[in-house]
Amino acid sequence: MNGFANAAFLRAVGSLAELPPEGPPEVAFAGRSNVGKSSAINALLGRRALARTSKTPGRTQTINFYEADHDGERARLVDLPGYGFARVPLALRERWRALVGGYLASRGALRAIVLVMDARHPITALDEQLVAWCAQAPLIALLTKADKLSRSAQAQVLRKVRERLAGAQVLLFSAVTREGVEEARDLLQHKLRAGRRK
Ligand code: GTP
Ligand code: MG
Repeated sequence: MNGFANAAFLRAVGSLAELPPEGPPEVAFAGRSNVGKSSAINALLGRRALARTSKTPGRTQTINFYEADHDGERARLVDLPGYGFARVPLALRERWRALVGGYLASRGALRAIVLVMDARHPITALDEQLVAWCAQAPLIALLTKADKLSRSAQAQVLRKVRERLAGAQVLLFSAVTREGVEEARDLLQHKLRAGRRK
């Protein structure tokens, strides 16, 4: 399996007006703050610190676009700002809703949405809201920080999320042990390829 090559940061966007013009196919990573979205993008791109990660929830507040080659074509991985961190002023929450909601609803290049959830706390009320916004593209659920769970707890959460998100592809994932990285990359590349207009 060939991975992504020549990964690079493209642009950070704080408003819909600044979105880069539609171009290569995109997959977007959404999820609560601190679940590991930026870490997952780094693991998938095979880069240690291209996307900035942080112990402090709310690190990513812009939509960050990354580009990489796969099969000799460009593709974009899109890191969406996280939601649900504590003590967020209402104005910021509204800004988040407009930015992320607007992007998801209008982006023609979007080929899949990756819903990133902490395997220990899957499908919060906010995740459910996001799922409702995700009808436009296939949904892939990554259950991150799987390294924090026992094998039996992993199996249990996998079963539960597969039941709740019928129709989604659900994977256990760990940026630390790299469990699920290859499988997730294969899935994403399949979606990106399916979106290619020849
Ligand atoms: P925001 O940008 O704030 O929305 O967060 P994020 O979802 O991008 O999370 P980020 O990737 O910054 O990771 C948050 C914290 O979780 C960091 O301290 C990471 O090192 C840690 N982390 C991420 N993925 C994993 C994982 O698979 N296993 C473990 N044990 N820790 C992880
Ligand atoms: Mg982040």
